[in-house]
Amino acid sequence: MKLTNRTILIVGGTSGIGLGLAHRFATDGNTVIVGGRTPEPHDGLETVRIDVTDPASILRARDEVLAAHPDLDAIVTMSGVLLTEDLRDPAHIADAENMVATNLLGTIRVTDAFTPHLIGRGTGTIITVSSGIGFLPFPLMATYGATKAAVHSYTESLRAHLTGTGVEVTELVPPAVATPAMAKLNPAAVPVDDYLDEAMELLAAEPTAHEIVVKAAQPLRWAERDGTYAELLERRSAPLNNLPGR
Ligand SMILES: NC(=O)c1ccc[n+]([C@@H]2O[C@H](COP(=O)([O-])OP(=O)(O)OC[C@H]3O[C@@H](n4cnc5c(N)ncnc54)[C@H](OP(=O)(O)O)[C@@H]3O)[C@@H](O)[C@H]2O)c1
Repeated sequence: MKLTNRTILIVGGTSGIGLGLAHRFATDGNTVIVGGRTPEPHDGLETVRIDVTDPASILRARDEVLAAHPDLDAIVTMSGVLLTEDLRDPAHIADAENMVATNLLGTIRVTDAFTPHLIGRGTGTIITVSSGIGFLPFPLMATYGATKAAVHSYTESLRAHLTGTGVEVTELVPPAVATPAMAKLNPAAVPVDDYLDEAMELLAAEPTAHEIVVKAAQPLRWAERDGTYAELLERRSAPLNNLPGR
């Protein structure tokens, strides 16, 4: 995507990767609005309150953003919740529902809210956010991985639907990135700034890239093609042994 003079809404931009990306876009000369349930002021960024699990909240936020920024030409569907689960305990269903509502339905609803505007402009960008886990499960994060696999599949279909409208669709496929929550779960996670450096470089180098897959995500993204899937899945299943009762 062209990375200057854009007006970009990052839904899920109030912390972590989304906030970091927002600052990068703003530094590059774009107008950036970040959205979340509890937006706090950030230098150089505008904010909007939005809960992606609440259809009315999404439409309110959409109207607020488009009233202030009729030239909005890019959205990023970054909102996500990551929870570990024990699938032997059916009580996990509440967490599963939360992740499906936020990560998958949230992506679909937010995209729907803005496609008519972007198609009407005849140009624009939608950036969705999947995960390496969407391509190679980490069984402790079962529903999370399922939602990200679904986001990938949905993104591929969305791109096909929008062909010829001038609206481009790009998918970020992050590896484990050391946001405060992820750093606790995975000591090998890539520092946020390193991830953003590489992702921004790829975005700039390949303006029409379908996927942004940094080096650390490539072994996950391509495990099936590389013939490493079964071995990596077995290794990534080992943490299940630490669940209570195993
Ligand atoms: N960190 C990683 O290792 C990693 C790896 C692969 C993919 N990802 C994906 O990257 C994205 C950002 O993750 P992160 O690690 O940066 O997590 P994070 O710091 O927890 O940020 C999550 C963002 O989602 C927003 N959010 C959560 N629930 C929401 C809701 N109901 N409505 C609106 N916004 C909501 C949060 O804002 P509020 O709390 O203000 O609502 C926050 O801005 C997620 O989609 C995640 O799945 C992360």
